Amino acid sequence: MRIAMIGTGYVGLVSGACFSEFGIEVACVDRDAGKIERLARGEIPIYEPGLEDLVARNAGDGRLSFTTDLAAAVRAADAVFIAVGTPSRRGDGHADLTYVFDAAREIAAALEGYTVIVTKSTVPVGTGAEVEDVIRAARPDADFDVASNPEFLREGSAINDFLRPDRVIIGTESPRARDVLRSVYRPLYLNETPILFANRETAELAKYAANAFLATKITFINEIADLCERVGADVHEVARGIGLDGRIGRKFLHPGPGYGGSCFPKDTLALVRTAAQAGTPLRIVETVVDVNAARKRHMAERVIAACDGSVSGKTVAVLGLTFKPNTDDMREAPSLEIVPALIAAGARVRAYDPAGMAEAKNLLDRVEWCEGEYETMQDADALVIVTEWNAFRALDPQRIRAAMRAPVVVDLRNVFDPATMAAAGLRYTSIGRPDPGAAMSPRAKRDAG
Ligand SMILES: NC(=O)c1ccc[n+]([C@@H]2O[C@H](COP(=O)([O-])OP(=O)(O)OC[C@H]3O[C@@H](n4cnc5c(N)ncnc54)[C@H](O)[C@@H]3O)[C@@H](O)[C@H]2O)c1
Repeated sequence: MRIAMIGTGYVGLVSGACFSEFGIEVACVDRDAGKIERLARGEIPIYEPGLEDLVARNAGDGRLSFTTDLAAAVRAADAVFIAVGTPSRRGDGHADLTYVFDAAREIAAALEGYTVIVTKSTVPVGTGAEVEDVIRAARPDADFDVASNPEFLREGSAINDFLRPDRVIIGTESPRARDVLRSVYRPLYLNETPILFANRETAELAKYAANAFLATKITFINEIADLCERVGADVHEVARGIGLDGRIGRKFLHPGPGYGGSCFPKDTLALVRTAAQAGTPLRIVETVVDVNAARKRHMAERVIAACDGSVSGKTVAVLGLTFKPNTDDMREAPSLEIVPALIAAGARVRAYDPAGMAEAKNLLDRVEWCEGEYETMQDADALVIVTEWNAFRALDPQRIRAAMRAPVVVDLRNVFDPATMAAAGLRYTSIGRPDPGAAMSPRAKRDAG
């Protein structure tokens, strides 16, 4: 069995390396020659725990290779996976399928013998049929099927997610394509991973439905957190109280500054557009998109409010810039809204992130870049936690207090314990939890007018 992986980004590289771990011969292709050169030298272009070892081992054993020669990789392959980007189309929010169709045309030109072309990229329902038309038009003689196999891995735990997934969804009605994909996923099949076979449209839509549901869950708990703040409830206890109900589940009930990343924002928007076009608007998801965008915009106001209404001339230390920990991915990160808004309000921003600084420097201007947590907060008037890196949880409240000029801490990820922070003399606010320094309960405050 041989696989060609077209697109060696986050998904292509992790999937390619994991397929080679299954014992399959994999050629990872990218049109970015610099990226391929680095990979061939053993350099990993993304931050993903465990990936470097996995790539080195399988490349060393000769099962995993990197190339810009798409035609040669496709000619030799039994299955060709398309794992190129599908960003939001500028202006209308539909998924931009330019890379997918470009790849399809290049694949078509190189096909030899029966080949299954598999879209692993997240693509709107109906794209598989269009990819098939593109290839058929270019190569009426070719022997191929087009299947859908959406990817559910999460950045930061991508390898485990790929090797031990909750499920694999394969969308094709062709028995030949099913056989090829069944043998690609054979190790998981033996592991009793649920492997769901469906038609192509079902597989394509399942990916968007999953992301929209998870984005809804996050947005739901974020709004509940806002309510908690008004009424003196603790959102973590509420989340536990509902999450222990097996029908609800505990995951994705952690409040924060709004979801970001390379998938949820663009996928929720694309699903909304697909549904509207199909004449069945998804009003819940439309609202989730709006509420989340407003939340991200609103976060800087929280910081300003914690600084007694103004950050003008003040120094704000920002810890964490990536959209979540254990990744260097900055796509749609809340920091990209918060930092510019603070600077626009007159703040001097110092920032640090354990893995995202290189990319952050391309995306954020007028920031003072620091080398570590305590250096960032030195002489600051406020400290803002934007990403919940584990290293931040271990920061010493006494040392934080000693480093800062003013004792204001705004924790947008609830990494600290409110009572400990208050005991260290810090004016600490977090998301959806009673303010430890509040002299009056919200109810008493209301009664007092
Ligand atoms: N990142 C995630 O966590 C994640 C998870 C699940 C699904 N997805 C989906 O997977 C897809 C890929 O996402 P990503 O984050 O890996 O993207 P990415 O931008 O990191 O990588 C895409 C790669 O494809 C390459 N490329 C584009 N056109 C090419 C062509 N014709 N030939 C060869 N290479 C080409 C680019 O150079 C780039 O390296 C998207 O549809 C995304 O929605 C992503």
